[in-house]
Amino acid sequence: MPHVLGVIGGDGIGPEVVAEGLKVLAAAGVQFDSVPYDLGGARYLQDGTVLTDEILDEWRGLDALFVGAVGTPDVPPGVIERGLLLRMRFELDLYVNRRPFRDPDGSFEFEVIRENTEGAYAGEGGFLRRHTPAEVATQGSVNTRFGVERCVRYAFELARGRPGRHLTLVHKTNVLTFAGDLWERTFNEVAEEYPDVATAYNHVDAACIYLVEDPKRYDVIVTDNLFGDILTDLGGAVSGGIGLAASANLNPDRTGPSMFEPVHGSAPDIVGTGRANPTAAILSAAMMVDFLGETDAASRIRAACADPTTQVGTTAQIGDAISERV
Ligand code: IPM
Ligand code: MN
Repeated sequence: MPHVLGVIGGDGIGPEVVAEGLKVLAAAGVQFDSVPYDLGGARYLQDGTVLTDEILDEWRGLDALFVGAVGTPDVPPGVIERGLLLRMRFELDLYVNRRPFRDPDGSFEFEVIRENTEGAYAGEGGFLRRHTPAEVATQGSVNTRFGVERCVRYAFELARGRPGRHLTLVHKTNVLTFAGDLWERTFNEVAEEYPDVATAYNHVDAACIYLVEDPKRYDVIVTDNLFGDILTDLGGAVSGGIGLAASANLNPDRTGPSMFEPVHGSAPDIVGTGRANPTAAILSAAMMVDFLGETDAASRIRAACADPTTQVGTTAQIGDAISERV
């Protein structure tokens, strides 16, 4: 049975990199049917559509979603991010954002598990006396025992299956004493069930230094939504650039489709130039088929992407070179 994939090319370089991802999947012998969805900033500017309940319901019947990049500078901030991407993450309960990083020379490799449905992204807060000199804006961070624990458990399971068997909690417990306390206690309690996994704790500011100066110390990192957002851009920057950084937005309970997208954005400044590296999208496609049980195809795609001879030329040339090696 072919996998049924919802495909959102999106904006900017999104459609360019998604095309290469699908090309590589086909070359790797993966059987799939793709269902295209025209969504993102461009669609919003055409007819005001961000995401409808009907589309969301349709998605619940798919095997997975593959997204290029969404967002355009001519749409006010938040409209597409909150209305499409975050709505997807929240409504499909994609509570784990898994982001693996590997240095191109193979000298280090780690994964970040970012909580994906709570924290500062939950949208808690509001305005008082807006547009007056006395205006107030609050933006809370929502952390539930349930949400933290399921994410932390996923990270421990992942760490247990890796040779390093090491998990680091990253937070800011010295200042965010409420949320930090909940995260730290949950982490320590779950750790008792995983005596085979060694643990560590880093404050997020220190973790930024370590990621730059000594990334080898990390095996698996678990952290909250906003810290994870920031740390994973840094992770991309220290491991070959954001053009290589893949991500999986997972519903580990498989009560619906999971979503796979590169960490990078729509890069409108380079659209149409062939300068976008499709590897992040291709590696995201590999994570997708891995999650769907095609572990052999996924490892062939990862190996092809790691071959430095594939990493030269235009968007399509990189996609072709990877396709030839899978
Ligand atoms: C990411 C992106 C998104 C996020 C934006 C586009 C909403 O930066 O996937 O890392 O902040 O999660
Ligand atoms: Mn980000």
